[in-house]
Formats: sequence, C-alpha cells, structure tokens
Amino acid sequence: MLCSGKGGTGKSTVSVLLGAALARLGRKVLLVELDSGLRSVDIIAGVYGRTVYDIEDVLCGRCEAGKAIVPSPLYPGLSVISAPYEGGDVEAAPLGRLLMAVRPYFDFVLLDTAAGMGAPFTAAVTVADKALLVLTPDPVALRDGKIVADRILSGGRPQSTVRLVMNRVTRDSFGKRAAVFDLDECIDTVGAQLLAVIPESRELQQAGVHGSIPSPGDPAVTAGQAMAKRLCGQRVPLTF
Ligand SMILES: Nc1ncnc2c1ncn2[C@@H]1O[C@H](COP(=O)(O)OP(=O)(O)O)[C@@H](O)[C@H]1O
Ligand SMILES: [Mg+2]
Repeated sequence: MLCSGKGGTGKSTVSVLLGAALARLGRKVLLVELDSGLRSVDIIAGVYGRTVYDIEDVLCGRCEAGKAIVPSPLYPGLSVISAPYEGGDVEAAPLGRLLMAVRPYFDFVLLDTAAGMGAPFTAAVTVADKALLVLTPDPVALRDGKIVADRILSGGRPQSTVRLVMNRVTRDSFGKRAAVFDLDECIDTVGAQLLAVIPESRELQQAGVHGSIPSPGDPAVTAGQAMAKRLCGQRVPLTF
C-alpha cells in the first residue's frame, strides 16, 4: 500500500511510477486506487474513459474483479482498478477477498490510499504486507508521516513493514536554510528505512496531467526504476 498522512504528497503519481517500473521489470502489476471521489490514477495511467466499473462495484459485489481491471495503454504489464467518482467506504474484508482472487494473476498489487487515516487507509493496512510512506521533504508531511507509521506498526508488525519514499526532492529541499536539514532528518523523524528518493520532475508532473509517458531518461523515472528493483530484492544505490 502507498500512504502519506498529509494530502498531495504524490501517492498516486508514485503508485503509477512504481507500477510502470515493476512492469518494465517483467512483473504483472495491479494498481487499485482507493481514493474515492478524488481519482487521478485513471488519468496518470492513461485509462481515463476506458473504465466501466470501479473498485466500489467490485467490493459491493456488483461486478466481478475482472470487469473492473483495465490494462494501462501507456505501460504494458500495468493494470488498474479505478476509484469511484464519489462515495463508497472501502472495507477490509471484501478488499482482502479481492486480493486473494487476483493473486494468481499478478505479482504485485499496489493499493493507492487516500490522505489521512480513514476507511481506505484502515482497510489497506489490514490487508497489505508492506506500506510505502510517500512524503515530501517538509516538516508537516514528516510529522504526519510519523503518526501514520506509528499507527501501522501499532499492531506489533515488524519495523520493516514501513518503508519511506521521499518525493519531490530538489537540491533546495535540504540544508541549513531549508526547513529540513537532510535525508537523515527525514528518516529519523519518521522512523522508517528509506526505500527511494524521487526528484521533483516537471516532466513527471506534466505526464500525469496529460496522461502521457515521461521520457525514460527522466531522473524521476530512473529513481522509480531503482525503487522497483529494490522492492524486487536487488541492491541498487541511491542516486540522490
Ligand atoms: N516527483 C514529482 N515531481 C513533480 N510533481 C509531482 C511529483 N510527484 C507528484 N507531483 C505532483 O503533485 C501533485 C499531487 O500528486 P498526487 O500523486 O495526485 O498526490 P496524492 O495522490 O498524494 O494526492 C500532482 O500535481 C502531481 O503531478
Ligand atoms: Mg491520490
């Protein structure tokens, strides 16, 4: 699952970036957007206008999972179940059943949650075996991220359940004059091991807005590829 506490830190953007990168490594990936009413994955992954059913239809039993799964035309190997345009609380039990049903067909299922610790977050925490905390390098995101990390670990799960993804990082993010001194401060504040550092990228942002592909050489894409490799157990150095 991908979560944040604070809104707008880039969960959906990073979900697609990661899903696309895992797919490029040959993995079959299903990305489920749980942010009811604020859907954006459909646009970023290029499935906008192609979805008939959404995650609420699946969880309520209105349709079988296969009907709501839409392959991304931009990223071969990545498929998406979109969030509903409005309403619908996500519950853990049907979400868990969905994961069981799709497990034979996918290597990774990414759950893109909503900000805060509401129903989508709670349901995802119950069923997910890893939480990627997507944060921006600012004190509010870090503090909220710490609260979220504590909540995830409160059930006695191992510390390694939560991994930190620092997003929208620039050279100016850190230093004596910045609100956050360095990456170590991010790691120490949240108390989670660092998985990836994704740079601020205008190209990634524009691709998300237009539903197009960022160029493979873009630093954010490279960072996404490194993140995917680490999740697959490869040792890849941080490039930031
Ligand atoms: N690495 C990045 N570089 C530039 N813009 C980014 C980056 N990550 C996210 N954004 C932008 O930040 C905004 C919020 O991202 P989004 O993925 O919708 O966040 P969330 O899902 O956490 O609400 C979007 O306009 C998105 O394009
Ligand atoms: Mg989102």
